[in-house]
Amino acid sequence: MSSFAAVGRTMRLNGRLTAAVLLLQALTLARCLQLTEITVPDVVDVRETVTLSCSYDMGTHKLNSVKWYKDEREFFRYSPLMPKSLMLFDVEGVTVLQNSTGQICNQFMCSIQLHRLNIRSSGSYRCEISGDAPEFKLAHGVGNMTVAVYPQFDPIINGLQHNGVQHNYALGDFVVANCSSDMSSPPARLYWYINDRNVPSDYLQPQHESTVENDGFQLRQRTLEIRFYIDEKRLGKLKGKLVLKCLARIDAIPQATRESTQIIYIPTTDELRNQKLINWRGSDACSLQHATLARLSVLFTVTLGGFRWFV
Ligand SMILES: *[C@@H]1O[C@H](CO)[C@@H](O)[C@H](O)[C@H]1NC(C)=O
Ligand SMILES: *[C@@H]1O[C@H](CO)[C@@H](O)[C@H](O)[C@H]1NC(C)=O
Ligand SMILES: *[C@@H]1O[C@H](CO)[C@@H](O)[C@H](O)[C@H]1NC(C)=O
Repeated sequence: MSSFAAVGRTMRLNGRLTAAVLLLQALTLARCLQLTEITVPDVVDVRETVTLSCSYDMGTHKLNSVKWYKDEREFFRYSPLMPKSLMLFDVEGVTVLQNSTGQICNQFMCSIQLHRLNIRSSGSYRCEISGDAPEFKLAHGVGNMTVAVYPQFDPIINGLQHNGVQHNYALGDFVVANCSSDMSSPPARLYWYINDRNVPSDYLQPQHESTVENDGFQLRQRTLEIRFYIDEKRLGKLKGKLVLKCLARIDAIPQATRESTQIIYIPTTDELRNQKLINWRGSDACSLQHATLARLSVLFTVTLGGFRWFV
């Protein structure tokens, strides 16, 4: 009786093991299709051509279709089993770059390119894959994209005194300059630096801003004025120059940061003294020249006199 029970238990155990193995096999056989990666850039410049791509593991399934949606509206379909494997649908803000080498759709991935972006291109992009009949299993991934207008130019620093060769300042002088960012959306924040150090806030005037609307974007341009005395007590030892840098940064788009630099050379007191010395020697050299000329004329006279002792 007890040995029967033991045999029965073994059989039941074996049975469970077999079931487990079968289940494992079934899982491997019917390995589900899954979306392994979706790439949608977070922020792009309106002038860019962007690439959206999704990769998938079809498991034991065959790819029936890949569909791309923007805000739940389908704009692209790849269905390799159909005679017309590529289809495009009109969706506002979406223009698929046709016949591009960047468009690759197959059993493993589907990568497409969008161009002619505008403000309506911002939104949520979804890639959905489906397996073949009879189950038509689905998997999807979503990524959001925001279209911005990056500044195209470095900020402009103007208002500095210039003598035609270089900026013309001395210790104790008052400096006024403006930094103006290029138009952008979102707007850039402006930062001034002197010799790579953030400037004290009392150097800065209130910021000016102007707005232009273009294709639905609110483009903003900003100007930040800096005013300060060239004062080594506040600025630290200057070593003959002030490097004025203006940075225009959009918080959400660090890669769109732009900057400009202007250098102001300031003669130090030592240099001013040397300058005077050079000037003084300069005038001395001038009188030496007179002396040489005088001596030459003496020699000339002597030569005319027929003597050749000086050769
Ligand atoms: C893409 O190429 C096909 C044929 O290769 C052509 O019929 C179609 O006009 C092209 N589309 C564009 C937008 O150039
Ligand atoms: C995309 O945007 C939608 C709507 O603004 C938001 O609900 C969703 O969480 C965002 N998805 C991602 C992946 O950031
Ligand atoms: C800086 O810009 C402001 C506003 O545009 C203007 O009022 C000011 O005169 C400018 N300053 C200089 C030094 O150019």
